[in-house]
Amino acid sequence: MECSGKDFKIGECDGQKVVDGEVMPLVMTPPEADKSNVASLVSSIEKNRDWFDQMIIKNSAVLLRGFDVRSAEDFNEIVEACGWDDIRYIGPAPRTHIYKRVWTANEGPLSEFIYYHHEMVLFKVHPKKVILYCEVPPPEGGQTPFVPSFKVTERMLEEFPEEVEEMEKKGLKYTFTAPNRNDTSSMRGRGWQDAFGTPDPAEAERRINMMGMEAEWLPDGGVMVIIAPRTLTRVFDGRKGRRMWFNTVVGMYGKEHSSATMADGTEIPEHVVRRCGEIIEEESIDFDWKKGDVLFLDNMALLHGRRPSLPPRKVLVATCK
Ligand SMILES: [Fe+2]
Repeated sequence: MECSGKDFKIGECDGQKVVDGEVMPLVMTPPEADKSNVASLVSSIEKNRDWFDQMIIKNSAVLLRGFDVRSAEDFNEIVEACGWDDIRYIGPAPRTHIYKRVWTANEGPLSEFIYYHHEMVLFKVHPKKVILYCEVPPPEGGQTPFVPSFKVTERMLEEFPEEVEEMEKKGLKYTFTAPNRNDTSSMRGRGWQDAFGTPDPAEAERRINMMGMEAEWLPDGGVMVIIAPRTLTRVFDGRKGRRMWFNTVVGMYGKEHSSATMADGTEIPEHVVRRCGEIIEEESIDFDWKKGDVLFLDNMALLHGRRPSLPPRKVLVATCK
């Protein structure tokens, strides 16, 4: 399906890559100078909904640039124009509700790198779309790098075929500990009371179990959450049979507050995890924000992260089914 050409103009941006014949991200700009207002944009999206959705799946990332998107309210209108249902974020990132479907992206310290991940990868349901809007671009750093996940699987299979198949066959086990209080100064984010939305440990445990996880209470009142088994790779409908690196081994392996092993407890060799981190970085597409950008990511196909940033930086998010 081709766009008529009169609703968007295809543009370019720094850092774009061509992956398997597709440009990432695909940049869409206003077709004419007087069509950069939000009302025109919203009607263009509504008119071309199916096409727009297919472009996101085909190119994995679509950037709307050059439109006059000025506020969370504008952003919310754009999100609603797409017609996808909202999916409520669950996870460790401290986020604040801004307006209707719009939240702040991770409010963890800007000086820290938020490591590459598929959104909500450890849960049973994941958003199909992660949509980000830049209200205040960072003066330096603060890129949102993203990685075609299937490339990571391809390269890991080339270098470590046996290890990959063993991890795939056995499945993975992760743990993380949530502290017994709110500690916003660290990337561990919220204490378990806030993370699980209750001051009652029995209720917190019930909620942890409902998410398909186990709780182990620690002497200091914190909780260790055990997540197993989980898959190493996944293949999703409509994505060319690509085997996505749908796990968070590199992000959680061997950390002070988290771990990743095979589901039967077998250690994952350290050099395999280290090399995987290098491959992810090599395949990364560094995306630099400009004010008013709206970036659509296919969460089934891309890992994304956030590079350390100088303040101020304000990026808002909506997640969709
Ligand atoms: Fe994220």
